[in-house]
Amino acid sequence: MDLQGKHIVLAVTGGVAAYKAAELARLLVKAGATVQVVLTAAGARFVGAATFQALTGRPVFDDLWDTRVGNGMAHIELTRAADLVVVAPATADVLGKAAHGIADDLLSTLLLASNKPVLFAPAMNREMWGHPATRRNVAQLQDDGALISGPAAGEQACGEVGEGRMVEPDDLLQDIVAAFQPKVLSGRTVLVTAGPTFEAIDPVRGLTNRSSGKMGYAVARAAREAGARVVLVSGPTALPAPHGVQRLEVTSAQEMFDTVMAQVGSAQVFVATAAVADWRPLQVHAQKQKKQDGGAAPTLALQPNPDILATVAALPAPPFCVGFAAESENLAEHAAAKRLRKKVPLLVGNLGPDTFGRDDNQLELFDADGHRPLGRGDKLMLARKLVAEIAVRLTPSGR
Ligand code: CTP
Repeated sequence: MDLQGKHIVLAVTGGVAAYKAAELARLLVKAGATVQVVLTAAGARFVGAATFQALTGRPVFDDLWDTRVGNGMAHIELTRAADLVVVAPATADVLGKAAHGIADDLLSTLLLASNKPVLFAPAMNREMWGHPATRRNVAQLQDDGALISGPAAGEQACGEVGEGRMVEPDDLLQDIVAAFQPKVLSGRTVLVTAGPTFEAIDPVRGLTNRSSGKMGYAVARAAREAGARVVLVSGPTALPAPHGVQRLEVTSAQEMFDTVMAQVGSAQVFVATAAVADWRPLQVHAQKQKKQDGGAAPTLALQPNPDILATVAALPAPPFCVGFAAESENLAEHAAAKRLRKKVPLLVGNLGPDTFGRDDNQLELFDADGHRPLGRGDKLMLARKLVAEIAVRLTPSGR
């Protein structure tokens, strides 16, 4: 329940994407938020107030002169309890009004009367989004401290293809949750490895492991929530990329190594959560290997893979390096030794591998001062704690 106890004003303006705002309202309520919907006259042309009232359990406000508010000032009362105002979809019109302080209906007056953080999710035709007037208005709103989520690129309701689609409700929810996280990594670039690697034997077979990638994806999401630019180098997983994270997909350890080395120059933090195969077949067969009737079982000759974390940690000016260690016994002893062997300032240990694929975990932090528990619970919650631990250890320059 990422938004438990939060009060969100969800303003819906007149774009086709208003139908996605209904789904967003449902997701916000599911995440624990109290949701108060404000509908503009144009918004009500697309989705009716009854839909939002049913989804949020609260009457919708759509009129500056609403008599339900005791003092007759709905534009002021509605944001008093709010922690965040979300305008989704945000039309070119509402962006223009908000950027210029125009107040001629309930929403625009409410935005002017509110000192609460505002997140706009623009949605419009790509020409409108690209118009210099819209560009100016968005830049002005960002200057004024507003958050802008999206828009995304893709097929548009007008039949054109381009930038201007409202961000999907699931992704918008991630941005809304992120708005409440402290920006302890803003201005930093964080490079994360995640998932298993797959070492080919032939075109259909290979060596891999049971890593789901969930911990690494949670670290990537938490770092992005903390304001970092995040590059996620991921082995094969079934997970969607966290919103706003640049994911580079790789298969083998060697590919992961090459991709990390190409990216590491711009990173101030490197978090290695991937379960990298230590070995790969010496020979990769171009054709599927057939079993020979009555023949002896083949033997598989292996060669070592490069150690990505140790290589990055040994660079002349390495980023702040964080390793992970899943041990099956003697966690304290093995993890402390692994930290020294890999020469990393921080190592996160857990007793596995039964945590693979699960949503929760129990982690222990190892650094030069010894070790202490990071906590137990949801992987995203633990990832946020880890991000906070990394942030306090960074020097101002990050290296
Ligand atoms: N790691 C890496 N590249 C490798 C192997 C491991 O970057 N080729 C990273 C992992 O992402 C993790 C840490 O090193 O952050 C520890 O990995 P682990 O495989 O547990 O360490 P090993 O050195 O292989 O130790 P052992 O297998 O003996 O437990």
